Amino acid sequence: MTDRMKATARACSNIAFIKYWGKADFDHNIPLNDSVSMTLSDAVTTTTVQWDPELKDDVIYLNSERILDARALRISRYLDRIRDQYYRMGARVASVNSFPAGTGIASSASGFAALATAAFAAFGEESPDETEMTRWARRGSGSACRSVQAGFVEWKGGTDDASSYSEQLCGPGHWDLRDLVVVLSRKPKTISSSEGHKIAVRHPFMAARQEELPARILSLKGALATRDVATFGEIVEHEAMEVQAIMMSGRPSALYLQPDTIRLIHHLRAWRDDEGVPVWFTLDAGPNLHVLCEGDVAFEVRERLTIVAPDAEILENRPGPAARIVDDHLL
Ligand code: DP6
Repeated sequence: MTDRMKATARACSNIAFIKYWGKADFDHNIPLNDSVSMTLSDAVTTTTVQWDPELKDDVIYLNSERILDARALRISRYLDRIRDQYYRMGARVASVNSFPAGTGIASSASGFAALATAAFAAFGEESPDETEMTRWARRGSGSACRSVQAGFVEWKGGTDDASSYSEQLCGPGHWDLRDLVVVLSRKPKTISSSEGHKIAVRHPFMAARQEELPARILSLKGALATRDVATFGEIVEHEAMEVQAIMMSGRPSALYLQPDTIRLIHHLRAWRDDEGVPVWFTLDAGPNLHVLCEGDVAFEVRERLTIVAPDAEILENRPGPAARIVDDHLL
């Protein structure tokens, strides 16, 4: 056991503007459609992996606690995929999140991007190139492939393992867009994303959604390229509501929105429509609102949110960096 077999990586979560909801292939996390996201500067996972030829079973720590539950099993299964193609040995894994659990920020996205990056670096050999790392992250959790890269990212859904990978659209410096995550509830969701993807593929609205998505993605990418916040915001908000509609009208129904989520949406739309504040929102598989605006109005938007949701924590993010190797090991 040497330090040569140990590496630590840091990766940010991401928020999807065009969502991944529904899989074409559940073994390889191949999505039904392409998706587009922003990497989140302040929602970070740090993970250390230490390979040990003498270790039979993996030993896994999450936020300083040893875990032996389904989360540990998911990580070990994932490491098996790497072991099957590279070297057979056990691993010690320690992972910490900068953001609290259950905040509606996808910890599986930053988690698997950091895990894949650290696991390969810990072999002490040349890691797969960036595109291949996005595939490796995707094999752990679909949305994780977008967390390998910085700034604004597109996941080319593809049709099989080789053709499903992410590509950077623009770097973090392209646009000072902010995502203010308003944490309205920390309760675990009743229907997991993995379950939601299964319900989504059999939803009767899905065919219509898939038909419209290519044009929507093109328009979104155009608005992103020109930093046209009003066009961008309208597309993103519509997309969020369409996906929520599919979630809540599925069988079984996944109703992630809480009364406070709806209340805040009404406030936000009134600020925009009645007072001209350029602010929009998106949602994930949870009740917490991702409020989107440009940097020059972020302070005002934050002040307004604090007034209408005084008890809610607000986590502010900018376009974040790519997954990277760092020196401060957790093990
Ligand atoms: C609503 O990536 O968590 O956040 O591939 O089963 O791990 P698995 O699912 P996951 O799904 C994320 C769904 C989403 C939308 C998105 O991030 O695109």
